[in-house]
Amino acid sequence: MSSNRVIIFDTTLRDGEQSPGASMNQEEKLRIAQQLERLRVDVIEAGFPIASPGDFAGVKAVADTIRECQVAGLCRARDADIDRAWEALKGGADPRIHTFIATSPIHMRHKLKMEPDQVIEAAVAAVKRAKSYTSNVEWSAEDAGRSEMEFLARIVEAVIAAGATTINIPDTVGYTLPHEFGPRMAQLIENVPNSDKAVFSVHCHNDLGLATANSLAAVAGGARQVECTINGLGERAGNASLEEVVMALRTRQDIMPYETRIETTEITRASRLVSQITGFMVQPNKAIVGANAFAHESGIHQDGVLKNAITYEIMTPESVGLSTNRMVLGKHSGRHAFKDRLQQLGYELDAEQLQNAFQAFKELADKKGEVLDEDLAVLVDEERRIE
Ligand code: KIV
Ligand code: ZN
Repeated sequence: MSSNRVIIFDTTLRDGEQSPGASMNQEEKLRIAQQLERLRVDVIEAGFPIASPGDFAGVKAVADTIRECQVAGLCRARDADIDRAWEALKGGADPRIHTFIATSPIHMRHKLKMEPDQVIEAAVAAVKRAKSYTSNVEWSAEDAGRSEMEFLARIVEAVIAAGATTINIPDTVGYTLPHEFGPRMAQLIENVPNSDKAVFSVHCHNDLGLATANSLAAVAGGARQVECTINGLGERAGNASLEEVVMALRTRQDIMPYETRIETTEITRASRLVSQITGFMVQPNKAIVGANAFAHESGIHQDGVLKNAITYEIMTPESVGLSTNRMVLGKHSGRHAFKDRLQQLGYELDAEQLQNAFQAFKELADKKGEVLDEDLAVLVDEERRIE
């Protein structure tokens, strides 16, 4: 794989599902997994097999069905977790065991109640056990964003020596800032002597709204796998949003010359499917997939877009699977967009009729907000009747 290829690891079915209220049944997980396969993500994290019999069944169904992506299952650094994960994953085309343990002083002291050396020992044992099942083993340092760099380098070196092939550095609580996290990733890779034996990965949460920015900073710092979810679904404020990370990499090739294998025209369909299945609405102004992401209302913008869309669109709607952008007729709209829409609807008005209709349109827009095609039909009929 080339050194500028970024692996996209989708965790909608695992971290995304941990979003309160976003539980999915087996059939729903499978439908989403099949869409993720069409989207051409590299890895689908399908769930946490030991969490419940339902989760086990969901991961197994995904692993047994999906052939074009690696399928991963999450487990703590415990034998029973790892064995259960393997039971669920073993029918997969390229199964990955993903084991994690916390590495920050806060988590080690208050949650694990373990000494740092015990944490290293547990992590190494978990990786070795996973490795006895598959060569494809990912290890994550939970709360790496608040871990001490020296300890992080020591444990990462040990788990790579034990056989981990992907090292994931999560900002579990969305605490770091991009100009801190990118150099942190670079420093870690530099300080781990056997770092060339593994792919470094990033997994960011959005508590400060920085998950996408931190993920991109980590790529600039040397990460070559990004963990993300459709619509940014995930614990608390969510995870880095797949569509944002992928489209940022694609749109800013000039300063981030990295490639993914994502079929971006499947993004909108993936977003709508996840929203429909989970019942989580996508906010209208959400980047890339919000209803307004390719909509224009103001006269100046509409005029620019009608002349050439690149004036106000940094990517095409077609590139994310939409058939067109959307001109919203409202009080901010200008004559150019108004006339254009009337022509699309088949109305030919002379200059005076157009002027009167435009005036009536503005008055209506003030009262109503968005003026729809049906409203325009009434406006034009009214104008013709008066004549
Ligand atoms: O946020 C996190 O640290 C995680 C790990 C389990 C990868 O989700
Ligand atoms: Zn997470």
